[in-house]
Amino acid sequence: MKKLFVFALAILAMVGRVRADEGMWLPMFVERLNYVDMQKMGLQLTPEELYSINHNSLKDAIVGLASESKPRGFFCTGEIVSEKGLLFTNHHCGYSAVQKLSSVEHDYLKDGFWARNFGEELPAPDMTASFLIRMENVTDEVLGVVLSDMDWQARNKAINAKIKDLEAAASEDGKYNPVIKGFFEGNEYYMFVYQVYTDVRLVGVANSSIGKFGGDTDNWMWPRHTGDFSIFRVYADKDGNPADYSVNNVPLTPKHHLPISLDGVKQDDFTMIWGFPGSTERYMSSFGIDYNVDTFYPIIIDIFGKELEVMDEFMQKDDAINLMYADNHAGLANTWKNFIGQCTMLRKNKVSEAKVKLENNFTLWANRNNKKEYPQALENLKDAYGQLAQIAKYVYYPNFIAQMGPAGMASAFQGYAMAVDSKDKDAINAAVMELQAMDVDAMFAETNPQVEQKMFAEMLKVYRNAFDASELPEIYTKVIDKKFKGDIDAFADFVYATSIFATPERIKAFIAKPNAKKMKKDYAYQINEEMTEVIMNAVPQYRAAMVATQENDHIFVKGLREYYADTQPEKSLYPDANSTMRMSYGSVQDYMPADAVHYDYVCTANGILEKYVPGDYEFDAPKRLIDLIEKKDFGAYADENGELIVCFLSTNDITGGNSGSPIMNGKGELIGLAFDGNWEAMSGDVNFEPKLQRTINVDARYVLFIIDKYAGATNLIDELDIRKSEPQPLREEEEQ
Ligand code: ARG
Repeated sequence: MKKLFVFALAILAMVGRVRADEGMWLPMFVERLNYVDMQKMGLQLTPEELYSINHNSLKDAIVGLASESKPRGFFCTGEIVSEKGLLFTNHHCGYSAVQKLSSVEHDYLKDGFWARNFGEELPAPDMTASFLIRMENVTDEVLGVVLSDMDWQARNKAINAKIKDLEAAASEDGKYNPVIKGFFEGNEYYMFVYQVYTDVRLVGVANSSIGKFGGDTDNWMWPRHTGDFSIFRVYADKDGNPADYSVNNVPLTPKHHLPISLDGVKQDDFTMIWGFPGSTERYMSSFGIDYNVDTFYPIIIDIFGKELEVMDEFMQKDDAINLMYADNHAGLANTWKNFIGQCTMLRKNKVSEAKVKLENNFTLWANRNNKKEYPQALENLKDAYGQLAQIAKYVYYPNFIAQMGPAGMASAFQGYAMAVDSKDKDAINAAVMELQAMDVDAMFAETNPQVEQKMFAEMLKVYRNAFDASELPEIYTKVIDKKFKGDIDAFADFVYATSIFATPERIKAFIAKPNAKKMKKDYAYQINEEMTEVIMNAVPQYRAAMVATQENDHIFVKGLREYYADTQPEKSLYPDANSTMRMSYGSVQDYMPADAVHYDYVCTANGILEKYVPGDYEFDAPKRLIDLIEKKDFGAYADENGELIVCFLSTNDITGGNSGSPIMNGKGELIGLAFDGNWEAMSGDVNFEPKLQRTINVDARYVLFIIDKYAGATNLIDELDIRKSEPQPLREEEEQ
C-alpha cells in the first residue's frame, strides 16, 4: 500500500513538474484551454467561480492601476481584500503616489504612513482602479473593414476607425471604458469593458527600508527580502458607482474580495496569478532580438546609466533631493537593470539561436506548403531590423540630449521661432500668447538646479562619446571646442549662468519681452535646434523600418500559428502580454541558478538580519523591525518552525504590469503578492525558461506581520478576511 501510494505521488509530482508553467492566458477561455490542467495541479474552484460575466467571480477582485481616468493600459495590478474596498498592491506601485503625498517634513517614503481610520486616508494623486466587467472577441468586426487592396497604413487606419466606433458604442454614454486591443500581432482583436474608479486613497505603506529593502542592488534578484506591498482603498458614490474624490464618497462594496490564507507554501503547491502583464515578445524573430541586444538596449543602458550616476551622487547626501527624484530614479534604475539583464541573459540563454532554429524549420515548412509570403516576411524583417540598427542612435541619443535641462526648456519655444520666421504678424501674436499662457514654474517642478546642470553636462559628454567627431553638431565643433577648449563642464557653467532657459525667472523675463534674435543665439536653444535636426534627418528611415517590422511581424505570426496548428496541433498558443487581464498558473518551486548552486523557494526574516547594514542607502532597516526579528516575535505569522517567511518563488509566467498581482492557492485565497522576476531568466519576456524562470512573491504572512506586529494597524487586520486551515491529521501512509 505504502509503496503504491508513494508511486502515485511520484507520478503526480512528475505531471506537475513536466508541465511548463508558461503562458499568460485570457480568463474567458479558462474552461476550454486550462481548466482540466489547473484542476489536476490543485485548483479547487469551478470555472464559473474564476471568470463569469453573469455572477460574481474571482476576476471581480482584480484591478488594473493607472494614472488616467480612461486608461488603455495599466502600470500595475491590485486586488481587493475586504468588503470595504481595501486594495493591496506593491510598494513600488504605490511609490509615485506616496512620493507626491510626501514632503521633507512628512516623508511617507522614508517613514511610512498608516491611517488609523477612514478619515485619515489620503486621496492618492493620479491613481485609478479599473474593474473588468467583461471581455469579448471582436476580431470579425474589426478585421471586417480590411479590404484586399489596402496597404498596411490604410489597413491600420481603417482598423483604428472601426475600433473607435466599437468602443464608443460599448461605453453606454461614458459609464464604461471599453478598450479594444490587438492580439497575435493584429491577427485577433478583443474588447475589454472596464469600470474605472477615480477616488483611490492611501491607507498604509511601510518605510521604504522595508518596502524597498535591498534597493536596486537586490532588484531583479533572488534571494530577496523586500516587503513590497502598499495598501489603498477604492471609494465610490453612495450607490457604488465611480465618482471623483468627494468627502461624501464611501468605501466601495466590491463584488468579490480575496480571503487571505495563513497556511503558507510548500514545494509543488498549486499557484495562480491574475493581473495585467504589460508586454512580452514571445513571437519575436531572431532579427528583433539581435537588434535589441546589439543596438537598442545598449543605447538606453548608456544613457540611463549616466543619468542614474548623477542622481545617485546627489540623492544619497540630501534628503530633499532624495525625495524629489525618488520615483524618477526608481523607474530609470528598474529599466536600466532590466535591459542589462536582458542583454546578458538573452545571450547566455541563447535565445536568438533558438529562434533561428525555429525560423529555419518554419521556412522549410512554408516552402514545402508553397506559402512563399512567410519566408519573405522573415527576409523583410531581417532587412527592417538592419535599417533600424543603422539609424537608431541618430534618433535616441539626440532625443534624450534635446530634452536635457535648458535645452529641453527651449523646445517649448520652437513654435515661437517658427512664427517669427514666417513673418506673419498674427502667427507671431498667437505664439507669444501661447508663451504667456505657459506655466513656467510647473516646468521646473521636481527639479534641482545642481542636479540638472550636472546631468546636462554629463549627457553632452555621453553624446560626444557616442559619435565620430565628424558627426558632431556645431555646438560641439564651433562652441564647446573653440570657445571652451572642449571643456563641457565649463560650457555647462556658462549656459547655466547666462541662458534664457536655465531659470524660471529668466524665462518669464524673456516671455515678457520676447526677442527672437537673442533667443537664436542662446546656446541651450541651439542645442535643441541642432539635435532636433539630427532626429528629423533620421526619422524617415526610422519610421519606414518600424512600420516594416510591424507589418512583417503580423505576417510572420500569422504563419507561425498555421505552422504550429499543422505540425503540433496539441499545442495551445497564448497571446503576448498587452496590458489586458491574464491568468497564469504554476507551482511553488526552487531552482538552480548555476552549477552546484541551489536556491530555496522561501527566504526568512533571518536574511534581513544578514543583509542589514545600519545607515546604508539600500540595506538599512527600521530598528523596530530588527528587534521583532531578533526576538522572533512573529505572532500568528510564523511558520511551523517559528520562522517568518518573507518571500517565496513560483513558476508562474508574469511580466511588468503584473506587479502587485495576487498569487493565490487552489482555493482562491491570497498567499502573497507577485513583485518581481529573477536575474537568471531576464530573457523571459522573449522566451520562457522553465528551469530558470521564477516569479518572486512577498508572502502574505510577512505582509500581515508588518501591518499587525510592526505597524500596529490592527484596524486593518480586523477588516481583512484571514483564514487558516485546520491542521490536517497525517495520513497513516505518510507516517514513518
Ligand atoms: N523589478 C520590479 C518590477 O519591475 C520593480 C522593483 C522596484 N524596486 C527597485 N529597487 N527599483 O516590477
